[in-house]
Amino acid sequence: MSIRSVIVGCGAHLPAKIVTNDDLAKLVDTSDEWIQQRTGIKQRHIAADGELTSDLAIAASQKALERAGISGADLDLIVLATTTPDQTFPATAATVQAKLGMLGGAAFDVQAVCSGFIYALAIADNFIRVGQAKNALVIGAETFSRILDWTDRGTCVLFGDGAGAVVLKAEPASEEGVRRGILSTHLHSDGRHRDLLYVDGGVSSTKTVGHVRMNGKEVFRHAVQRLAEVVDESLTANGLTQADIDWLVPHQANRRIIDSTARKLSLSTDKVVVTVARHGNTSAASIPLALAEAVEDGRVRQGDLVLLEAMGGGLTWGAALVRW
Ligand code: ACO
Repeated sequence: MSIRSVIVGCGAHLPAKIVTNDDLAKLVDTSDEWIQQRTGIKQRHIAADGELTSDLAIAASQKALERAGISGADLDLIVLATTTPDQTFPATAATVQAKLGMLGGAAFDVQAVCSGFIYALAIADNFIRVGQAKNALVIGAETFSRILDWTDRGTCVLFGDGAGAVVLKAEPASEEGVRRGILSTHLHSDGRHRDLLYVDGGVSSTKTVGHVRMNGKEVFRHAVQRLAEVVDESLTANGLTQADIDWLVPHQANRRIIDSTARKLSLSTDKVVVTVARHGNTSAASIPLALAEAVEDGRVRQGDLVLLEAMGGGLTWGAALVRW
């Protein structure tokens, strides 16, 4: 009998501090009008001094565990996607593991920038499918504000901090439940484009943390093309069509990228979960943040077909199809 991963709990957490576009216009030569028109972003949450990626991750995870009706001790796997770990090592997942009271199993971080959550979800799903985990916690958590150059208006207006988490449970793909859970995941990367979006520092190179650098126009062009391809790939793999999709929960980088994917899928905007206006781009955290919101407010319901997709630095990109 085959096993499938079912999402049994979602949680999200945002830092309390909100920074508006007008606030940023006091720091760099920008305006609320420019930022909204080009990106759809109105505000973002920014972590306080001393508020770590693990703090955001733990808060989101506790909510996800509560919704799932299990405790940290029941987990046997944590996969945490982040570009902004607390420390170079140990993995931020290890801190989360200790604070959630998980005593066994495995906990590690995954680095795929804005695609990180899809990568982490795919890894956890595969652990479950082969029988190596039963209750997995998948987290996307970032304090992206820590790697922003607050003098570069081309990047500092785009990002925010936050965390989201989901609990996956192994369930036998029984007769009636056969189509429930993660149907498939699809991951891609193309390292030839690593210079389009990167951080100009690192342990082995400059021994500094560095700041985000981006060729926004090129990233935009690749995002629109690659996301359309991976969405097609995931539908074809499951013998489904665009018309079967109930909800698109995309990575929240830019309203224009999201709209372009929705148009290609002929999805009306009320079938797309959009949080970018309030959260900005929270990198690996954006999909689980948006998903938790749509589940919590009752938009996503049992039986719905949910498509998750993302693209980020690497370049990396991917998608997951989930029957709720
Ligand atoms: N405020 C005001 N003006 C600005 C700002 C700003 N914050 N940033 C750039 N400008 C200026 C530029 O200097 C330029 O001025 P110039 O014409 O005098 O040289 C002008 O605005 C146009 O700049 P472009 O970079 O051509 O603007 P564009 O329309 O491409 O929009 C943006 C830039 C929003 C970054 C867009 O390219 C984009 O969204 N790209 C995708 C990048 C992205 O989302 N990255 C996130 C990570 S990857 C991912 O998650 C998919």
